[in-house]
Amino acid sequence: MKLVSLTISILGLAALASAQVTLTPGAGIEFSRHNFANAAWNVSKPGETCGVCHIPHVEARATARVHNTLLWGRELSAANYTPYTSPTMQAVMGQPSGSSRLCLGCHDGSVALEMFGSVTATTTTFVTGAMKVPGKDNFDFGADHPISIPYLATDPGLRDKDTSRFGPTATRFIKDYLEGGTIVQCSTCHDVHNKDIVPGTNVLNTPPNPMNYLLRMSINNPGAESELCLACHIK
Ligand code: HEC
Ligand code: HEC
Ligand code: HEC
Ligand code: HEC
Repeated sequence: MKLVSLTISILGLAALASAQVTLTPGAGIEFSRHNFANAAWNVSKPGETCGVCHIPHVEARATARVHNTLLWGRELSAANYTPYTSPTMQAVMGQPSGSSRLCLGCHDGSVALEMFGSVTATTTTFVTGAMKVPGKDNFDFGADHPISIPYLATDPGLRDKDTSRFGPTATRFIKDYLEGGTIVQCSTCHDVHNKDIVPGTNVLNTPPNPMNYLLRMSINNPGAESELCLACHIK
């Protein structure tokens, strides 16, 4: 398997991460844009990779940071989102739920990246620009793939979640990537830890800001174009 190794430039996107991180798709979180161990804004747990998001023990801090699962150690967003709606969609999207709220605590751009550990009020570094999700307007999912929706077994436009393969290897099924076996979340399509993804693909942009998007299946690999979308949608 060919891995593409890319070094983050100190320009552009890299401003939020460490200038020294080597990007290697599929090699784990340390080799991804989610390695903030040495990010300038990581004043609470410098040198720690996992500690930016997870805590092994609940420490004294605002209750808003203690998500009841996954040992979450970060402030969550208090935003009220406009859900995705359409006349053809069968499932109904409400407010984001589950692990998607953990992503949105950074990616909706409303909570400072510093807001974990000992920091309670500093608000200087935010996710901005293309990295902001939802990206249309503030907190509006109108132009983003719906999340926190059930994968309806009755929808004739969707593949059988129990028997259709999904993910970077041919060993797992769609249901294995749905929260609780039923709900589409951000982590259905992305692996925040840069491990269970299709390696070395989806590098769409040219350097200095090459993107892998941490996707579990290809969107533009030759011979596997839009494989991610077609894994669920019968189109
Ligand atoms: C940028 C934030 C972030 C960092 C850094 C991070 N995680 Fe996570 N982690 C998450 C999110 C979000 C979830 C829930 C979504 C999911 O399961 O993919 C999660 C889920 C998990 C889970 C439970 C589900 C699973 O995938 O097994 C474990 C275990 C875990 N993380 C361990 C780690 C360890 C160990 C590290 C450090 C090497 C780490 N994480 C670093 C954000 C992070
Ligand atoms: C894990 C499965 C899964 C993947 C992967 C996936 N989707 Fe979806 N998508 C869904 C589900 C479930 C819905 C909601 C369908 C419904 O209830 O009508 C949906 C909804 C949509 C809708 C809105 C449909 C409507 O009626 O308004 C569009 C458009 C769409 N997806 C396109 C895509 C594209 C493009 C990709 C690839 C980038 C993709 N999807 C990847 C599961 C998936
Ligand atoms: C149905 C699959 C799917 C879901 C669900 C999904 N994404 Fe994505 N995401 C993609 C694809 C495909 C791309 C690649 C860029 C593109 O096609 O726009 C992407 C790109 C991104 C990017 C890179 C910047 C950009 O916009 O291009 C970020 C950040 C991101 N997603 C975060 C999230 C977050 C946070 C959530 C949950 C709120 C989420 N994604 C849910 C498929 C998905
Ligand atoms: C600690 C805050 C934080 C959390 C939590 C977090 N992200 Fe990110 N993520 C970022 C930042 C900051 C960047 C951009 C880093 C840069 O510009 O170098 C990023 C980058 C990304 C990218 C682009 C990576 C690439 O190289 O193409 C995707 C996709 C993404 N995040 C998805 C997610 C998803 C999905 C979740 C939840 C499962 C999540 N993130 C949780 C802060 C976070």
